[in-house]
Amino acid sequence: MRSPPSYQDFTANFDWNVAERELGYRPGSPINVAWMCSDRICQLGLANKFALLWEDYQGNEKRFTYDDVRILSNTIAQFLCMQGIQPGERVCLFLDRVPELYIGFLAILKIGAVAQPLFSAFGDESLLVRLADAGTSAILTQKKHLYKVRKIRNRLPKLRHIIVVDADPTSLQEREISFAMEQAPRVEEFSTYPTTAESPSVLHYTSGTTGQPKGAQHVHYSIIAQYLTAKWVLDLQPDDIYWCNADPGWVTGTSYGIIGPWSNGITQVVLDSGFNAERWYEFIEKYRVTVWYSAPTAIRLLMKEGVEIARKHDLSSLRHLASVGEPLNPEAVLWSEDVFGKPFHDTFWQTETGCIVITNFPGMPIKPGSMGKPFPGITATVLDPKSYAPVNRAGAAGLIALRPGWPSQVRGYWNNEAGFRAKFKNGWYLCGDRASIDADGYFWFMGRDDDVINTGGHLVGPFEVESALLGCPAVAESAAVAKPDPINMEVVKAYVTLKGGFQPSDDLELEIMNSIRKRLSPLAMPQEIEFVDSLPKTRSGKIVRRILRCREFNEPLGDLSTIMED
Ligand code: WT7
Repeated sequence: MRSPPSYQDFTANFDWNVAERELGYRPGSPINVAWMCSDRICQLGLANKFALLWEDYQGNEKRFTYDDVRILSNTIAQFLCMQGIQPGERVCLFLDRVPELYIGFLAILKIGAVAQPLFSAFGDESLLVRLADAGTSAILTQKKHLYKVRKIRNRLPKLRHIIVVDADPTSLQEREISFAMEQAPRVEEFSTYPTTAESPSVLHYTSGTTGQPKGAQHVHYSIIAQYLTAKWVLDLQPDDIYWCNADPGWVTGTSYGIIGPWSNGITQVVLDSGFNAERWYEFIEKYRVTVWYSAPTAIRLLMKEGVEIARKHDLSSLRHLASVGEPLNPEAVLWSEDVFGKPFHDTFWQTETGCIVITNFPGMPIKPGSMGKPFPGITATVLDPKSYAPVNRAGAAGLIALRPGWPSQVRGYWNNEAGFRAKFKNGWYLCGDRASIDADGYFWFMGRDDDVINTGGHLVGPFEVESALLGCPAVAESAAVAKPDPINMEVVKAYVTLKGGFQPSDDLELEIMNSIRKRLSPLAMPQEIEFVDSLPKTRSGKIVRRILRCREFNEPLGDLSTIMED
């Protein structure tokens, strides 16, 4: 059996141009993610290899070769061009995990437009905020989600085209057009727009502590890092059957649910269905999945269902397991060794990094509970929170920081230059997380350094929840904080003070919940509302969520004087 290279093998004389060479990219020439992921793979002689084996919750199946993906993305690309969509315009993908999502993503990039994937479970308000901010020109969606788009379209003057991939044309209204990818005449040849390294590619919205979600702008050169990290960290081999659980509404689902596997010419499987242990194991067994990229919340759900379900299935095809999104508990690593005969490898990164930056490599001894070591070409450290100088002491806590300049680094936040600048200190990019580094150079995650709530691997910004709460007539002030949860790690809890004339009651809690449910995505919904007389504030009146968070986690508050300062 092949044994994977060691960490030292990977890091020795590392240069990102390994990836440039392997992808056939010459600096200065055009580079296009979609072309790299489809046309190039066909040119390598893999046209008839399966790119996508797809199944939905009802058991419907579809299969697409790399040539199908190439031709169908051409077909959508040409349709988008015919609508007059220009390079650089934002085109939103508001779709379940249907084939049109994966192939449409490539089509948008082929015409030089910017792909803006949004989770299809978002409610109309969540959608509105992100489409308005990005000035999105077109949206691809499904019949079942159209009612949400219809609710907000009049507030989106820039949204010229609403493209419905499964609709009967007679049921459509003005600005709406139906386009069925598989029924349309197949476009064999399409000239991909000659994007270059710094041309914008993907715009992912991510939550921070303050303000509305920020649009993280990525560029075509990001593929250099996504290709190589997918190959090395996920250990992709030519015959692999790869499964990434993530929805492309989030960066894991694009970087490693589209670009990583397809730039490597790998066959990937997609299951468009929610969590179900039995179903997941059946899926792995049926497709003989070899590499699985999952998340701690999913692993905890599997653990909860018990090992017996797993033992009923032949899961021996699995060769490599990896996880991302939240801290991976040591218990989950040990459990997977027991049940699958191999550990989950924790990987750390974020929307802004575009690729895995700290990780447990396949050939590296795992310390359960540690995120591992920096990917070659990534300089990572932890900084003192006051001086922003590297801590340089084994085991000491600090802010996770990266030296700017890796290929898939976010190039900016859409319309938010100040927010972007605030992420850099002393020549370092700050991730917004805290960790320590041990004497062997392994990173140990400690927690976020801001008020962002991580629920099941999805970041929720307190601002979005609080804005929704403040829209309720009874609410005077509010603070959204994390509360511990055995499965999702954290869930949202809201503290609320009421306006005069309103009394706390179960009915009022229900009324508030019902009102904000219309505006928030299901993920951002508070699990609990606690009515209080007042909220902790700084001297200048800013709400200090950290005090409430510490209360939820039963953690000591530490030095309150620094918390109370502005
Ligand atoms: C934040 C980024 C990129 C993947 C999905 C989320 C947390 C991510 C880990 C990990 C502990 C992790 C951090 C990070 N996070 N991976 N392995 N261990 N925490 O992308 O939505 O931008 O979230 O998720 O807090 O900053 P994202």
